[in-house]
Amino acid sequence: MKVKTDNFTVVIFGANSDLAARKLYPSLYELAQWGHLPDQYRIIGVGRSALSNEDFRSLVHEKLLTFSPGIVLDEFSFKAFCSRFFYVKLDFKDFDSYQDLYKEVMAVSHEASLCEHILYYLATPPDLAPVIIRNLDQAGLGGKKESCGGWIKIIVEKPYGRDLETARQLNVVIGEVFREDQIFRIDHYLGKEPVQNIMVFRFSNGIFEPLWTRNFIANVEITIAEDFGIRDRGTFYEEAGLLRDIIQNHALQLLAAVAMEPPVNLSADSVRDEKAKVLRSIRPFTAATAGESVILGQYEGYRAEKNVAPDSTVETFAALKFYIDNWRWKDVPFFVKAGKNLAETQTRIVITFKCPPQNYFGPAESCSYTSNQVILSIQPEETIALRFGAKRPGEAVITDPVYMKFDYKTSFAEEGMTPYHRLLLDAIAGEQMNFIRQDSVEHSWEIVDAIRESVQGTPSEPYPIHSSGPESAARIYS
Ligand code: BG6
Repeated sequence: MKVKTDNFTVVIFGANSDLAARKLYPSLYELAQWGHLPDQYRIIGVGRSALSNEDFRSLVHEKLLTFSPGIVLDEFSFKAFCSRFFYVKLDFKDFDSYQDLYKEVMAVSHEASLCEHILYYLATPPDLAPVIIRNLDQAGLGGKKESCGGWIKIIVEKPYGRDLETARQLNVVIGEVFREDQIFRIDHYLGKEPVQNIMVFRFSNGIFEPLWTRNFIANVEITIAEDFGIRDRGTFYEEAGLLRDIIQNHALQLLAAVAMEPPVNLSADSVRDEKAKVLRSIRPFTAATAGESVILGQYEGYRAEKNVAPDSTVETFAALKFYIDNWRWKDVPFFVKAGKNLAETQTRIVITFKCPPQNYFGPAESCSYTSNQVILSIQPEETIALRFGAKRPGEAVITDPVYMKFDYKTSFAEEGMTPYHRLLLDAIAGEQMNFIRQDSVEHSWEIVDAIRESVQGTPSEPYPIHSSGPESAARIYS
């Protein structure tokens, strides 16, 4: 899809951020290479450091070489790409410095109005978002200044606020400056091919959905495990912790995709209505139930990481038991486990079905050995497997678990896009289905705030690096 706009400008706040270096520059470069960007586009990097346009271009070059070694950087196309980059030094909190940004944005505008197509990208810490948005508005660059057929949109990176209160405040501020259809709250998990496929798997096949209820499903397990630590993000992690970093967004979005009702149609609002309903139906976490439904952990050595307090209590692991109090899911546990520095990197969702009423092939408890499962592997494998019991060859009638498997890599010749490619294109096209709506952001914070409150004062349990987390995490399965 080629973006059909002229004078397209991306303004990246946080031009020196890790996110910009690892995800945004490579994605924009490849989108340009693949012919998806319009002929006239510019990328304005905004940051606190003093850089000339040339410095900024060299920095982007260096970052692409460091973080995207696989990318094809031929000199000619890279030079052409770099010539689209401009830099504005800006003190995010100082209104006066936004005048320079105004001048740069207007540099190619033919009239003294925003005929442009402008996409702001806030790759900045959450507490800066309100002040940036207010200053943009006062500088005459706010969303409501759209005119003469142009458009203005804003992508806001997660975490969106740091709790319900700050998310609400941000929603108020952003709502004063942009319309909801101009706001793209990004969770890059929603751009992953296998995550998008959850809805397709459920609603394009007749055989799964009738069984997708409490009548047939025993439990659902969602795992987001990483075999590396917080990398250089000590400052961020000390503020966020895993509940804010992973559970509030990625984990709850996976849970909503598995549990949602079929939408009325595929409009962004119909789909997001159903996800919001799931989040609203989650049984509240309380101190009374926390003992068996919330286990937080911290990997050994976390306190020695750069920019981490020596007595930090921040969690890098969570094992949680959710219930969704609605007609379809009442009393079916949804186990969610996520953590840093675990034994392996793996994101997957396992839906385990109830045992048949009569187990002919072994003692009753052996059923769980072969019980039916649908296993949606999101990464690094991109597969869907169906587990069932089969007779082991031989004289005795013994059942073993076997798998039928679909693998993206072998079933399709097409290369998928990365989440940032896809979501950037979606935002440019104004397609909001894979972005989080205001109500869902707030419901998710409500849930995470309650989880945090329910265990207030309980220290995170230490766990060895490359283990499966604290041993006590097993409590949530009881
Ligand atoms: C980010 C989190 O949103 O997602 C990181 O801030 C995490 O802590 C990352 O490592 C995982 O995303 P992916 O797509 O690399 O698995």
